[in-house]
Amino acid sequence: MTTVNTNKLSSARFAQATDAFVEFFTASVDFDQRLAFQDIQGSLAHAKMLTSIDILTKNEYNDIVNGLSKIQLEIKAGEFNWSVKQEDVHMNIEARLTDLIGVAGKKLHTGRSRNDQVATDIRLYLRQEIGVINQQLKRLQTALLNLAEKEAATIMPGFTHLQVAQPITFGHHLMAWFEMLSRDKERLSDCLKRINVMPLGAAALAGTSYPINRQMTAELLGFSRPSNNSLDSVSDRDFAIEFTAAASLIMLHLSRFSEELILWTSAQFDFIDMPDAFCTGSSIMPQKKNPDVPELVRGKSGRVTGNLMSLLMLMKSQPLAYNKDNQEDKEPLFDTVDTVVNCLRAFADMMPHIKAKKDNMYKAAKQGFATATDLADYLVRKGIAFRDAHEVVGLAVCLGLETKRDLSELSLTELQSFSADISDDVFDILKLEGSVASRKHLGGTAPDTVRSAIKVAREKL
Ligand code: ARG
Repeated sequence: MTTVNTNKLSSARFAQATDAFVEFFTASVDFDQRLAFQDIQGSLAHAKMLTSIDILTKNEYNDIVNGLSKIQLEIKAGEFNWSVKQEDVHMNIEARLTDLIGVAGKKLHTGRSRNDQVATDIRLYLRQEIGVINQQLKRLQTALLNLAEKEAATIMPGFTHLQVAQPITFGHHLMAWFEMLSRDKERLSDCLKRINVMPLGAAALAGTSYPINRQMTAELLGFSRPSNNSLDSVSDRDFAIEFTAAASLIMLHLSRFSEELILWTSAQFDFIDMPDAFCTGSSIMPQKKNPDVPELVRGKSGRVTGNLMSLLMLMKSQPLAYNKDNQEDKEPLFDTVDTVVNCLRAFADMMPHIKAKKDNMYKAAKQGFATATDLADYLVRKGIAFRDAHEVVGLAVCLGLETKRDLSELSLTELQSFSADISDDVFDILKLEGSVASRKHLGGTAPDTVRSAIKVAREKL
């Protein structure tokens, strides 16, 4: 059998050069070059371990270290010549290393496969990116705390079914957002535990016959431990799915914040002022100021959930161990990281500039009979059963609707016509301030309670 001179991997095995389209079709270097620094990091640790068990000599190891650092500089400077002929990031770096240092470069892959190599690279990459996401989450949470502090006593309507329900404080509303992000952070650190396990040593699927020291490599790379099963190590992408699920929830939360900000900037709500720097105009309607940033974030939330579906479907029904399918894990993962980081950043940048239009919020809370429940609770305290109290208040609301007045604007005589148990202390609780101040239990909306919640949150952050 004659062999064809190609750059193809294990070219001796092949009698034909790869079809040009297949070469392009199967290559991943265009996108996986993003893992270059993790790939080098992994190779350095692998080489050190190989040296410790005398598979590489000290000189070969030094050559590898020097070669890889030169490659790292070339990549940083944008001078590295990425080639589709070398298929992926791993082969590109290895080929360049061999160019630079000769035969020692060819020895680096001893006891290793691209299968355990790529799994290691992705884990290193995600570990780093979770750090970046956490930084942005923290910035956003800090901005929320600052705004919540400023608006701890600002009254606004709270909604259920998007109908005015009960008065709340704006600070309390912002702290609800804060809580969602705290859970997001917890999910990321939980998933990090499973990300931070090292596949290297699994080689192609069955491990290797060299007396490798996986503990050493894991320590060098900062992994908590080497993985338990070689087959699972090269094929597991649960960690990437978990990460994308956590990211989907972050985006889902941002989409909810977005939706509210968009509603609140509309003329119909007019609860907040969004800084010009985060809005754009319309090409035809001169009066428009559109909340583009939250709209875009709301839109982008869809693609992260889409990425989650892609990864779930990618893994579904895959037999052990590694399959080329897994090359498709990278683009959804990278897109997820970029989208989450950018959206969090946009929100963290924008949040400090959001201004509450307190008068409008207050007026809206007054319009919706938001203290109706407070009146019912008042009647209960006077000895009336809650369901009967509910009836009485319903009648009072009808009168308010007919005469276009809030409950606090009805006269004492009018209120007493519904229940003789009402006396003039009722007006304290019919006022929005009284209503929110009375909800002072843990988790309540009272300004002082919100301030305590902010204090606790700040300490935790
Ligand atoms: N580019 C491949 C990937 O992303 C690397 C592993 C390739 N392994 C193989 N046996 N073809 O998954």
